[in-house]
Amino acid sequence: MVETDFLVIGAGIGGLSFALRAAASGTVTVICKGAIMESNTSWAQGGISSVLGFDQRAPGDTNEKHVADTLDAGAGLCDEEAVRVLVAEGEATIRDLVESGVNFDQEGGKYSLGKEGGHTERRILHCKDTTGKEIMLALVSQAQAHPNITILEDHFAVDLITTTRLGAVTDDRVLGAYVLSKASGDVIRYRSDRVVLATGGCGKVYLYTTNPDSATGDGVAMAWRAGAKVSNMEFTQFHPTCFYNPAASGAEARSFLVSEAVRGEGGVLVDAKGREFMYDYDERGSLAPRDIVARAIDQEIKKTGAHCVYLDVTHKPKGFMKERFPFIYQSLREYGLDAETDPIPVVPAAHYQCGGVLTDLHGKTTVRGLFAVGEVACTGFHGANRLASNSLLEANAIARRAYEEMMRLYPPSKEVIEAPAIPEWNHGDVTPPDELVNIYHNWDEVRRTMWDYVSIVRSENRLRRAACRLRNLRMEVREFYWGYRVNYDILELRNLVTVASLIIDCAQMRKESRGLHYMLEYPDKVELQRKDSVLRRF
Ligand code: SIN
Repeated sequence: MVETDFLVIGAGIGGLSFALRAAASGTVTVICKGAIMESNTSWAQGGISSVLGFDQRAPGDTNEKHVADTLDAGAGLCDEEAVRVLVAEGEATIRDLVESGVNFDQEGGKYSLGKEGGHTERRILHCKDTTGKEIMLALVSQAQAHPNITILEDHFAVDLITTTRLGAVTDDRVLGAYVLSKASGDVIRYRSDRVVLATGGCGKVYLYTTNPDSATGDGVAMAWRAGAKVSNMEFTQFHPTCFYNPAASGAEARSFLVSEAVRGEGGVLVDAKGREFMYDYDERGSLAPRDIVARAIDQEIKKTGAHCVYLDVTHKPKGFMKERFPFIYQSLREYGLDAETDPIPVVPAAHYQCGGVLTDLHGKTTVRGLFAVGEVACTGFHGANRLASNSLLEANAIARRAYEEMMRLYPPSKEVIEAPAIPEWNHGDVTPPDELVNIYHNWDEVRRTMWDYVSIVRSENRLRRAACRLRNLRMEVREFYWGYRVNYDILELRNLVTVASLIIDCAQMRKESRGLHYMLEYPDKVELQRKDSVLRRF
């Protein structure tokens, strides 16, 4: 058994921002499913929204406007206190990242501020179109150099260890986690009274996603199994503009995000005939909030039978795309497209999980000692639809607040609990899986079911069908889990079916359309339904 003062599961901006603070107070172990640069954060293009000091902000911008835009996007479901607190953390977050070595783009001695859908002002700091990668490079190099931080790549947290799991009936505390080493196949006990989930989201639950392969909802699934409350999982954000790659379809489809910042800089959505269709749906046109734009594209595609719509930037000055969005420009070149002359074919794809493990504004979950930070958590900041570029801000700010709260409640200097003995992982009689084909088949079935029945437009019928298929899949996956020696494929599939089921359960509870959840039978918001959906296993 390995003992550590702080156990951090996940290594994106949330996990590493927390680890770097916590390292001042004790030993920190960071568990990372793959290579450290493979997190969702690394893929973030747009940037990080923040209203800076008067000399650095757009004239006329205020925190109050950022609050108003966030509340408006959140469609009546944001926790207003969460929004006010986190928006006010904007400057501290930027300072923190700059001190960590992030060089946000500047123009004439001032930060260059971008704009995205739903923002009424320019307030997005960025590093060209690879902001997340630049943030990760800075945080990773600091974390790797810190003597108190141990980073374990290729390690998969199988399950949390809690007092309840060990048989306690009244006292619900986290004690650590069982962790699978990819190299050895052993499951090791990590013992800690302070555990942070920072595992990101669950885009892989859908057939088409902007997320990396690692986004299988591990944190939500683990927290759920440990008895933590989970909230608002029906609100999956579909990004309107994922590159449409006609050569790739189905489970192996690979694509990439075309940042909303491209529309912020004047890109417009058009149909195959070049008509700007977004004004049929919203007076803000191509820069309406994401839920509206994604639904509009979905409708256009269904109406016209086209495979995609187009993002047109051909009117921008020559060299603009190459200079401001080099990653996107170059990625398109690899598919034979030149954004300066060719409209970019785009479709919506699953992008961000707005719900998650229910936490307060310090990242505290309903299980003692267990915190959740970033996309895995539901703090109330995003409501029914996240405002673009608010997520990196939330992850960094909550990481800071979680550390402060943990030091107040459970400082490492104080013994929190005399832990009951933690049994070793029991592999039972299991043998390695010999029927891998069944596992891959189930992966595909979950993702296709979710895409076909639980995506941008939902109905009672579709949700019922999805729930029925997921019930069968859950049973099969249970057999794999108990019948075979655990490996990455089984563990990810187990988490995927859990999270898919939670999305469907929450979606079936909400009898209205709000933000990202659109139901054919209930096309309007219903005031009586203006509450969070909350689920708990026991
Ligand atoms: C984008 O660049 O469009 C994504 C930014 C975000 O999801 O906040």
